[in-house]
Amino acid sequence: MNVVLMGAPGVGKGTQARYLVESRGLVHISTGDMLRAAVAGGSELGRRVEAVMAAGELVSDDLMMELVRERLQQPDAAGGWLLDGFPRTVPQAEGLAALLDDIGQAVDAVLVITAPDEEIIRRLTSRVSCRVCGKIMNRKELDPARPDVCPACGAQADPKTGEPAIYQREDDREETIRHRLEVFSTQTLAAAEALAARYPSHRIEGTGTPDEVAARVADVLG
Ligand code: AP5
Ligand code: MG
Repeated sequence: MNVVLMGAPGVGKGTQARYLVESRGLVHISTGDMLRAAVAGGSELGRRVEAVMAAGELVSDDLMMELVRERLQQPDAAGGWLLDGFPRTVPQAEGLAALLDDIGQAVDAVLVITAPDEEIIRRLTSRVSCRVCGKIMNRKELDPARPDVCPACGAQADPKTGEPAIYQREDDREETIRHRLEVFSTQTLAAAEALAARYPSHRIEGTGTPDEVAARVADVLG
């Protein structure tokens, strides 16, 4: 099964991706995670995209297409994939459809998760993640006595780099979040419509607990 997970920043794409990876064995392809890994690794790609991401702007369509074209053709993606954060513009949506036609694949479901902007701002200003296991959480989920320790994997630091395990994303400042929401409504909603014209598409209510949202997703996917 090939799934495209869409929705505004902070709506819960990464959170729901973890459920789908576990329940359906899909390969999680998050373009945001790929770009952040490039920034953290200090590669040439990372240097090119760092300031763009910190400002909440979009990385160029050409670069994103190249990244996704290469990733979707890796052997592990043959058994089903989950795209998270791509496509984000109409040219990316058209590029994806053309690429899939080329390689004889299709999208089985486009899931568009929704939530009110104020809920999203609340979520993102209190989001933290673990560098070691990738767990995404609310700051409230940390143990107040040990707020630097990941409650999921117990890590305090990244064994490879020594950096603190728990971190807040550079683009999760309120002003930048509002800008990302604007980019979403001016560019990404149209990309969702372009995909919906070609593939089965479903709107998923993203409020309620993560488990409740996951149950709605499971209902739609059957
Ligand atoms: P990307 O990493 O894709 O970020 P995003 O789309 O802004 O979305 P987020 O990752 O912030 O949110 P999410 O929906 O995954 O929510 P999460 O599950 O974490 O992209 C980052 C940047 O990279 C872009 O701005 C751009 O610069 C660049 N980029 C990436 N792809 C690109 C592309 N295709 N083209 C061009 N540029 C690109 O949840 C958020 C918080 O809410 C967490 O704390 C979580 O615990 C909590 N939460 C989740 N679900 C619930 C719930 N049901 N109830 C309460 N809290 C919840
Ligand atoms: Mg995410």
